Amino acid sequence: MVRIPAKFRPFVIAGILFVLGISLPISNLFIHRSQLAKDQPAEFQKVSDILVAKCADCHTKDLAQYPLYYDFPIASSIAHANVKSAQSSFLISKDKLSGRVPFSEGDVERLSRAMAKGDMPPIQYIALHWDSALNEKEQRILSKWIEKRLKEFDLRPIPKENFFRPDPARVALGKKLFHDKRLSENQTQSCASCHSLQRGGADQLQFSSSAGGKKASVNTPTVLNAAYNIAQYWNGRAENMKAQVLEAISNPAEMNSDWNEVCSRLRNDKDYDKLFRESYPNGGITASNVSDAIAEYEHTLLTPESRYDRFLSGDQTALTTEEREGFELFKKHECFVCHTGPSLGGLSFEKLGKYKDFYNDEGQTNLGRFELTHRKEDLHVFKVPSLRNVELTYPYMHDGSAKTLEEAVRIMSQYQTEKPMTADEERKVVAFLRTLTSTTFSTEAKH
Ligand code: HEC
Ligand code: HEC
Ligand code: HEC
Repeated sequence: MVRIPAKFRPFVIAGILFVLGISLPISNLFIHRSQLAKDQPAEFQKVSDILVAKCADCHTKDLAQYPLYYDFPIASSIAHANVKSAQSSFLISKDKLSGRVPFSEGDVERLSRAMAKGDMPPIQYIALHWDSALNEKEQRILSKWIEKRLKEFDLRPIPKENFFRPDPARVALGKKLFHDKRLSENQTQSCASCHSLQRGGADQLQFSSSAGGKKASVNTPTVLNAAYNIAQYWNGRAENMKAQVLEAISNPAEMNSDWNEVCSRLRNDKDYDKLFRESYPNGGITASNVSDAIAEYEHTLLTPESRYDRFLSGDQTALTTEEREGFELFKKHECFVCHTGPSLGGLSFEKLGKYKDFYNDEGQTNLGRFELTHRKEDLHVFKVPSLRNVELTYPYMHDGSAKTLEEAVRIMSQYQTEKPMTADEERKVVAFLRTLTSTTFSTEAKH
């Protein structure tokens, strides 16, 4: 390091700022953007163009074009940290921007939040890039599209046909792996041991014990309909299903195992060797492919055709009067603001104790998403659990501390809603929640 005498420092800093000030805006001119969604409807084309032009640098991995100053010292490290933080909270792929893969409900939900706050792109960035702010017209186009998409995502049935369209051969392979005990440390547990399809996709225990005998510190969430989640785990640390399986093998609370060991066990099995060669011609039995197959199978674990689905699809007789009243209360008391979308949850991270301090009252210790992000606003924040099949997935809450559905609803009524419900109202809501049970899987999944 060159030591600069203190009295010159202001000049040096002013000099750096001057150089940056000129070169940053000029560097904008070198960035060329191409249209990605040419073959899509005009409305989406416009949305895609805006996102590519104004958001892609920070929120994509495959499209980012960094302006010149990203290579300057100082500016470089700040800029890269910024991009990393941006990608970890909202990542859009080229496939989504070109319209080949639809934006997920979680994506749209987050976009809508950012638009409502009006804080994207960040103000520091706009200061350096003249044309990076969204103008009024662009804001209108984005907001209109988001609003329309959100309507599609509101409380609505799970479609009978699986719109994730998983690959049948990979699904069959994933199903076999999901039930295979060789994936756990001492070969005594499969994924299904804790995520039993007969027990609503979980195990009805407060805390599961893994193959190594270690007890989890959180209640096992269901795998049913988990494909809808914006991220996996109570704190959302796995960004998608595949990333979750990659972690599950070594997670002491799940398989407590080791990928090298697991892959070599599987390679000794002629059946697997053949199946993997068919489904994954390039690569065979690897951690990535095993995870991919299991994730593919999990995309078939959707449970449409509950009485609630039949009701939403127009069959008024599917719910009793009491259950219908419960549904109305569920909407009136804004449960659906957090428990939204087809799986009634899984689409956002929310604070436990929104209106009253649950942590003080109940002596909780798990700090939620904060443990992952260390951001103040993530303290006591958890992924909202899906309420599908909630009748079967007792006990409740991240720590399994509520033994019955009545207890869980009472906690929600007291801590998550502005005006607590009466005992009678709570009873009706519980009756409604029991209509979310279904043992029918979407069409591609045969069990
Ligand atoms: C200079 C980099 C940069 C640009 C350009 C940028 N963002 Fe961001 N964005 C960030 C960072 C950093 C975060 C994470 C920190 C935060 O939430 O404030 C973020 C977070 C987000 C989130 C997640 C918010 C949430 O509540 O989960 C969304 C959605 C988002 N940005 C949308 C956009 C959109 C839309 C654009 C384009 C109009 C855009 N961003 C442009 C840096 C950027
Ligand atoms: C010993 C019990 C156990 C086994 C075996 C197990 N899990 Fe889990 N699973 C858990 C626990 C506990 C969590 C929650 C951990 C957390 O949030 O930190 C979890 C979380 C998950 C989630 C996230 C769901 C959500 O809504 O966030 C998925 C998906 C999942 N497991 C799939 C699997 C798969 C696939 C396997 C097999 C490779 C597996 N699990 C094996 C206990 C288990
Ligand atoms: C502000 C967001 C928010 C609102 C509003 C809300 N919830 Fe929740 N709900 C959550 C979160 C977050 C959890 C997980 C908390 C935990 O596990 O510790 C949860 C958990 C639950 C559970 C337990 C599910 C399980 O599998 O553990 C039930 C049942 C539930 N909510 C029902 C309701 C009902 C009924 C209402 C309306 C009276 C409601 N919620 C309102 C965010 C919300």
